[in-house]
Amino acid sequence: MFKLGIWKIEQLRRDNLVRFGMRKRVAIDLYDAAVDKSQDDRNWMQESILRNFGSGNNTFKLTFRDRFAAFDDEVELRLPLILPQGQCNIQAHDVGVSDGRTTCPFFELLQRVYKDQFELLISDYDIEVLSVPVGRGNSRVILDSRANPLQLIMPPFVFSIIRPVTPYYYPVNWLLRVLNQRSAIEEAVQKFHDQSNDIRKIHIVCTECQDLVSAHQNLQIMQYDLLSKPHGSMDIVRAMNLLNPSYFAPPQMKIAIDNLRESLVDGGLLITGSNTGAGTQINGGIYRRTGDSFETLYESGKGSPVTDMLVHACKAA
Ligand SMILES: C[S@@+](CC[C@H](N)C(=O)[O-])C[C@H]1O[C@@H](n2cnc3c(N)ncnc32)[C@H](O)[C@@H]1O
Repeated sequence: MFKLGIWKIEQLRRDNLVRFGMRKRVAIDLYDAAVDKSQDDRNWMQESILRNFGSGNNTFKLTFRDRFAAFDDEVELRLPLILPQGQCNIQAHDVGVSDGRTTCPFFELLQRVYKDQFELLISDYDIEVLSVPVGRGNSRVILDSRANPLQLIMPPFVFSIIRPVTPYYYPVNWLLRVLNQRSAIEEAVQKFHDQSNDIRKIHIVCTECQDLVSAHQNLQIMQYDLLSKPHGSMDIVRAMNLLNPSYFAPPQMKIAIDNLRESLVDGGLLITGSNTGAGTQINGGIYRRTGDSFETLYESGKGSPVTDMLVHACKAA
């Protein structure tokens, strides 16, 4: 009939995440309230917050610590053979990192293989969101940095604007959202344009990743849309849980793959793959740019969900 959300940090408890078999939606602006917790608590809390949070481009920020540790081990075994240390200062880019928790072990992996002879750029479509108070009480609208509305929080409800519930399962949620969404979004977008000072900026980067960025000059973080002009000339580009057919329609997937290829030097490596939860099988691999195409150097599971486009489509284009 209706589904309540988690809209204040005291409600974010392991025993309060699921009700009647359905996961509650968690307000994304609780992300920074979890920062003061112990590392373990912070981890599961932030992972729960990101779990069903949709970005402005209809993808998910879902990520887990140690999500693909075994795959990282395989990459670490092969990287020194495929791209040995000492040839040049290795340029690497990890694309679509969400809050960076899977990038921390990748940075350490590159450190072990290339010592200090590398630079790593990490990026995501968005690395911050804006929490904009609207109406009365504790209601707020979450906007991305481009002013796209993402979430409507109307205690005790948390609605996704990107992926709304159907009236069939939750008619109360559906009705409340339909009645309130438009005026709430208008108010929030107006405040965005007025640069209202009650807007709260929330940096969606995990503490471990922020600490690494502060401590290492060869690690940089930025906002970057894979469908925009590529960042070249990289020796290694990694795109984990990003080249999913559910994220990009075929024409966009082609643009994404073209951009990844163009951002690599000839002979550069694309490390890509997808999985579900932490520690589950990666379908992916290491692919080397050879002119306009890629050749497969190593595959895990069934290989990347877009291997055919990597290896064949570029040739045909
Ligand atoms: C499922 S998460 C994967 C995060 C991390 N790589 C992992 O494997 O756990 C997908 C991430 O890709 C980002 N993303 C989606 N579309 C993107 C685009 N066009 N350009 C850059 N990043 C994008 C999303 O914001 C999200 O953080």
